[in-house]
Amino acid sequence: MRKPCRMLFLIGSLAAGWLSWSAPAASQGGRKVVPKLVPIAETKLLMEGLAHANFRGLERHLKQKPTEDQAWTFARGQALLLAETANLLMLRPPRNEGESAWFERAMDLRSTAARLAQAAGKRDYAASRAGFVDVANACNRCHQTFKVKVLITPFEEAEGSP
Ligand code: HEC
Repeated sequence: MRKPCRMLFLIGSLAAGWLSWSAPAASQGGRKVVPKLVPIAETKLLMEGLAHANFRGLERHLKQKPTEDQAWTFARGQALLLAETANLLMLRPPRNEGESAWFERAMDLRSTAARLAQAAGKRDYAASRAGFVDVANACNRCHQTFKVKVLITPFEEAEGSP
């Protein structure tokens, strides 16, 4: 009879944990916390560590039609991380007349990457390949607008381009 008791206790504490996690604000004197979003890393680091890294990862997974579930799962995840990278880019606009164009280009990356994630989630290879090219175009549109001399070429190695 001891075992069921312990189980009940465990379930009880899990439920208590869930409740305290789902409603913490009320117990803190009702003061609403509004976080201030602050960019920390340089844009260049986001480009190398997030944008380019996930872009090349996607390229590897989509070069040929993935045969394993895991490859689709990775591709979807990398596309979602690109979409989130776009959110981070929105914290770092140029503080001049280029600001609106920056937001537009970043939103462009977010929506193309989110669409690609959906296609990968459905394991739709044709839509994923097309979506990947759309993402590359979104990268290049921003680079062109802000005179960044970096050309992003989708399926560079696969197509055997020079
Ligand atoms: C909203 C604008 C914007 C978007 C969208 C964007 N970039 Fe960039 N990217 C920049 C800027 C600005 C730089 C130059 C950063 C610097 O050197 O300070 C840059 C630079 C780079 C670099 C060169 C980094 C280095 O080491 O000098 C790479 C690689 C890159 N981007 C990849 C990508 C990829 C891949 C995507 C799409 C998945 C992308 N970028 C989307 C604005 C953007």
